[in-house]
Amino acid sequence: MLNLAVCVSGGGTNLQAIIDGIAQGSITNTRIKAVISNNPGAYALERARDHGIEAACISPKQFESRGQFNQAFLEKLDSIQPDLVVLAGFLVVLPEQMIQKYKDRIINIHPSLIPSFCGKGYYGLKVHEGALERGVKVTGATVHFVDEGTDTGPIILQQPVMVEQGDTPETLQRRVMEEAEWKILPRAIDLIANGKVQVADGKALVQE
Ligand code: GAR
Repeated sequence: MLNLAVCVSGGGTNLQAIIDGIAQGSITNTRIKAVISNNPGAYALERARDHGIEAACISPKQFESRGQFNQAFLEKLDSIQPDLVVLAGFLVVLPEQMIQKYKDRIINIHPSLIPSFCGKGYYGLKVHEGALERGVKVTGATVHFVDEGTDTGPIILQQPVMVEQGDTPETLQRRVMEEAEWKILPRAIDLIANGKVQVADGKALVQE
């Protein structure tokens, strides 16, 4: 059984896709042990509680320094003893200590086809603003392992999505979620839970 800790900052639609995937059996051998947020107002916390999942908030505002926040966050994560940490719309820069400790055990969903529209400053709606500004015709989403860089870790799954005429950042964000994110994040978790993903030479090998 793969024990998940899911880290969230906002609405939690990707968290909901994981909860539904487990309930419907498209994700097997997996349970969500806890959901952690940096944002006390995150609706994702309510989604977790509604499903009887432990929901915790560790906010930077509770601490005097970033270092103290990082330490408290890592302590909370360690107490959950997760096999896999899922960043599902978690908009916090991870402390290096956490990345090293959980090497090849943290995955992230990003709303573009990496390496486009990723890295520092590209998160949430800003990713789709960038895609529309550049005029790309195809965008999508990526699930990847997290390493020390920003959006640079081994890519597990990607799903393309067409840009349509008249798209706004909001309509494109919604389509990328529906057609890509809510499919590939549950799928990646199921593959990992069933031993079908290995990392070698900085690349993820996936047996689909
Ligand atoms: C999702 O679109 C996710 O890909 C993005 O934040 C949104 C969270 O939505 N993540 C990033 O931009 C990470 N760089 P949700 O809270 O409804 O799942």
